[in-house]
Amino acid sequence: MKQAVYEITENIRIAKDIYKMILAGDTSDITKPGQFINIQLEGRYLRRPISVCDYDENTITIIYKVVGGGTEDMSLMLPGTKLDILIGLGNGFDTSKCAGDALLIGGGVGVPPMYNLAKTLISEGKSVSVILGFNTSEDVFYSEEFQALGAKVYVATADGSVGTKGFVTDVMKNLTYSYFFTCGPEPMFKAIEKLASTSGQYSFEERMGCGFGACMGCSCKTKYGNKRICKDGPVLEREEIIW
Ligand SMILES: Cc1cc2nc3c(=O)[nH]c(=O)nc-3n(C[C@H](O)[C@H](O)[C@H](O)COP(=O)(O)OP(=O)(O)OC[C@H]3O[C@@H](n4cnc5c(N)ncnc54)[C@H](O)[C@@H]3O)c2cc1C
Ligand code: FES
Repeated sequence: MKQAVYEITENIRIAKDIYKMILAGDTSDITKPGQFINIQLEGRYLRRPISVCDYDENTITIIYKVVGGGTEDMSLMLPGTKLDILIGLGNGFDTSKCAGDALLIGGGVGVPPMYNLAKTLISEGKSVSVILGFNTSEDVFYSEEFQALGAKVYVATADGSVGTKGFVTDVMKNLTYSYFFTCGPEPMFKAIEKLASTSGQYSFEERMGCGFGACMGCSCKTKYGNKRICKDGPVLEREEIIW
């Protein structure tokens, strides 16, 4: 983990209440897809955790939804603004567990961490199918970006305005895969858990305190004892989760 100052180089709206922000600075502490950063915002006590969507040597891309005051402040920030950020947080996804046909399932703001994960799996020579789940067409983002990586992309919307009408599981039930990775809301996780036929990894976006393992505010019970979602997670393996 590292604390440093990053400069916003881009902050644009890409769907309803959804923004993409690019931050410039040292990214050498990011080691795996699925890790997150924790952003200090002026006048707010707790930092706001956001997944790394993508990164290169000098930039981090995040995608966030405006849900309250902190993310609203972020949406109003202009390029050139500097932010105090903790980076390299969380365990991230372990791609070595997936030998071949990966299925990635992202629901809403669970979609962003799937992007660098897809990129990593494809660079490892694995085939990647991605299911992106949203409520309606206004919420959809990043389907072309996933396609450009070489992933097979399926979109599901609850109202059927884009792609399959229904939930991600309505697509998942017709696909074959040898391993899955997912991030999104817990009701989606529970539906996936009922349907999934292979091992996989779930990334939990719990509410957090410190974000780096010190306060125990994010502790949860697993089959192998208590784990802190921020440090021992946010990614847990299917086999260890107590639902
Ligand atoms: C590891 C991790 C990764 C995350 N990655 C992303 C991401 O890539 N993109 C993104 O948009 N969001 C992500 N989140 C959620 C994000 O941290 C919260 O939405 C944000 O902190 C809300 O801040 P706020 O000040 O705008 O809202 P607040 O004023 O703090 O809260 C507004 C509303 O949102 C709810 N809320 C706040 N935090 C969460 C949360 N973690 N989960 C569910 N509901 C919450 C509150 O209960 C409240 O109803 C992530 C969270 C974690 C823990
Ligand atoms: S948020 Fe403090 S230990 Fe996880």
